[in-house]
Amino acid sequence: MSKMLQEIRDQPEALTQTLDDGVGSAAELRAHFEKRRPRLIVLVARGTSDNAAQFGRYLIEITTRIPVSLAAPSVLTLYGCPVDLHDVVVIGISQSGESTDTNAVLEDSRRRGAVTVGITNDPASAMADVVEFPVLIHAGAERSVAATKTYTCQLLALYLIAYALGGAIELAHLRKIPDWVRGVLTLEEDIEALVERYFFMSRAVTVGRGLNYANALEFGLKLMETCYVVAERFSAADLMHGPIALVERAFPVFVFAPAGVTWPSIAGVLDRLQELKAETLVITDPRNASAREKAARLIEIPESPGTGATPEDLYTPIPYIIPAQLFASHLAALKGLNPDLPRTLQKITRTL
Ligand code: F6R
Repeated sequence: MSKMLQEIRDQPEALTQTLDDGVGSAAELRAHFEKRRPRLIVLVARGTSDNAAQFGRYLIEITTRIPVSLAAPSVLTLYGCPVDLHDVVVIGISQSGESTDTNAVLEDSRRRGAVTVGITNDPASAMADVVEFPVLIHAGAERSVAATKTYTCQLLALYLIAYALGGAIELAHLRKIPDWVRGVLTLEEDIEALVERYFFMSRAVTVGRGLNYANALEFGLKLMETCYVVAERFSAADLMHGPIALVERAFPVFVFAPAGVTWPSIAGVLDRLQELKAETLVITDPRNASAREKAARLIEIPESPGTGATPEDLYTPIPYIIPAQLFASHLAALKGLNPDLPRTLQKITRTL
């Protein structure tokens, strides 16, 4: 079995551990932000961690109304133009804590007076040292190059940070997440069977909207690095502004479709994809019965074995990425590829 698959399966425990430990740091941060509410949040990260940052951007804006921007590290590292960070909180995300340009932005931000927070899986990393407030995730060592459990733990840490910023996050809902993930993991055999029809897939499109846009980015990244599938990744709105033209009969399109405010936009895209006879695979849950009639193929998040419920829209992103991780891991195995060590990649990537 690949390390990636083992690490996907480890997620209920990793999430539980991250939550148990994180509630304390979140309370400490909340006390800090109650005294001084930031006017802007800047997120900085690379790769999978940057996909987590995209989620953080939506989550923090939706729940706290504080504007969020994603840093472009080259503005500092290549152009040498540090920006005005007065009253700004800069949050770095890195599973290793060793991404060089992410850390360079954090170091510069702290020197110039910004409040700095670092979400990392390694307490001994450069990131944990550079920031004022480290927020540790407890995913355990991630040995597969393809990140899985650190991504979901980073999302969980972002919920805690949104809570610390005064956001309307219900800790009781966060506590249900490991159980929802456990439920999704029961789909593994079905997903292993499903990937067979994708053996010859060389290109694909992934689609999400709002809180699940990050999952479209992350699913596409997993397909590219572990299965060498060229995956173009879009928000449902952006897909309609041109790229939909590349979709033809039998073209594979992977769509995240929870019930809730993003559904009308996603439903419109699925209607168009149905007309085009695309090969859609829709990730949804029983709350969204209307998704069934619009999908060529469906993966439904099961109800939680513990509570018998499915997540509300705000809490869908962690359970929803699990089938995508399983899909990429099993497709890689079927193709005889090693997802733990994709060609030309290493676990830590250092960029300027
Ligand atoms: C993808 C992957 C990479 C890393 C990226 C950032 O699965 O693992 O994209 O996410 O190199 O690494 P960290 O999080 O260590 O900064």
